[in-house]
Amino acid sequence: MANPSDVLIIGGFGHVGLPLGIVLADAGLHVSLLDIDAVKRPMIEAGTMPFIEYDAEPLLKKVIGKTLFVADGLADAANSRIVLITIGTPVDEYLSPKTAPLFALADALLPHLTEQHTVVLRSTVCPGTTRALRAHWLARGKDIPIAYCPERIVQGYAIRELRELPQVVSGTSMQAIQTAKELFGRLGVETIDVGTEEAEMSKLFLNAWRYIQFATANQFFVMAREHGLDYDQIYRAMTHHYDRGNIPRPGFAAGPCLLKDTMQLAAAYRNQFFLGHAAMMVNEGLPAFVVDMARNAAGDLQGKTVGILGMAFKKDIDDTRDSLSFKLRKLLQFQGADVLCSDEFAAGDGFIPKEDLVHRADVIIVGVPHSAYRDLTLPAKTITIDLWGVLPIAKR
Ligand SMILES: NC(=O)c1ccc[n+]([C@@H]2O[C@H](COP(=O)([O-])OP(=O)(O)OC[C@H]3O[C@@H](n4cnc5c(N)ncnc54)[C@H](O)[C@@H]3O)[C@@H](O)[C@H]2O)c1
Repeated sequence: MANPSDVLIIGGFGHVGLPLGIVLADAGLHVSLLDIDAVKRPMIEAGTMPFIEYDAEPLLKKVIGKTLFVADGLADAANSRIVLITIGTPVDEYLSPKTAPLFALADALLPHLTEQHTVVLRSTVCPGTTRALRAHWLARGKDIPIAYCPERIVQGYAIRELRELPQVVSGTSMQAIQTAKELFGRLGVETIDVGTEEAEMSKLFLNAWRYIQFATANQFFVMAREHGLDYDQIYRAMTHHYDRGNIPRPGFAAGPCLLKDTMQLAAAYRNQFFLGHAAMMVNEGLPAFVVDMARNAAGDLQGKTVGILGMAFKKDIDDTRDSLSFKLRKLLQFQGADVLCSDEFAAGDGFIPKEDLVHRADVIIVGVPHSAYRDLTLPAKTITIDLWGVLPIAKR
């Protein structure tokens, strides 16, 4: 693919890059996707979404080969006015941001860039990363305009949200800011101008805020249970027709973003982000509490069959990245339980249909509240642990 394109998306087969590429291509831009994932390429070229993203597949089929293309290598950047980066930005084993992949990409990309390009960084990064990227390229002789425009969609609903949500826009130069505003202007949404570090921090604050909210709900749940109280009754008392009682349901707070972004923020704040670390302790501790609930309800788990309904990290999607259902499985196995797993959307080694799981398990634990579980018929004798309240006869 050596035709000139408006936008080259690096990380273009991912959960952020692909939906964005599709909506930009549908808005009439000529978009190329570049990715190192060889497995997804034939699917995308055939117009098939490699993961659940609602409303994406019909649009992908519409634009692929017309305004949306797959690029062959970084050299294609030379022919693209805008280079958008959406690669993953994980934390390492010390919960510190892993910056090496981004800077390795920066080195490989630089020979193909000129100061007429605009690079739009879209991945979630630590405050100061955009500035550091500019300095990195400047030290190698090129002042490449860089915009930082964080992605704020909720996974699964990107197609709708990319056309609705205001876009946070920042940049290292007027050219970068102007180009990014024109780019997102094609989606017909508002833009919000801030500084690059303000944009970086705003994204991390949003994810940390969600993570802390979930942790608060989870700790309330644990406190109520430890007082021998019915949390559903407390939840109803707090929330029924009372707007200020806007508290999420308890449940696993997992996935590839919330914990790692809270830890990115902690790392940027000299590891003094006490609320963030406390939230991690609560959220990561919930599977162990659920195992205690199972033992209290069913006795010793040795030799018992425990079924986990829902292995994805959130409701009605197929993404299992960093799902706490896997931690739960490990803890149950450590107690000697025979663990069965099922998911509506995600495939996994040994996963079985929900009907088989329900039939065979002595104890059923809801890992994630897929909508299909609302209609399950459960044997009367089964012990259920359902923090989300999705099962029809939940005994919580
Ligand atoms: N998933 C979300 O809902 C979401 C929402 C907002 C922000 N984010 C942020 O967006 C970024 C991407 O997240 P994601 O969920 O799309 O991850 P992802 O793993 O789904 O996608 C990243 C893609 O980048 C590709 N890639 C990695 N290195 C590459 C390289 N050197 N060259 C080309 N391709 C490369 C991978 O193969 C993968 O397809 C992260 O910073 C994440 O925190 C994610």
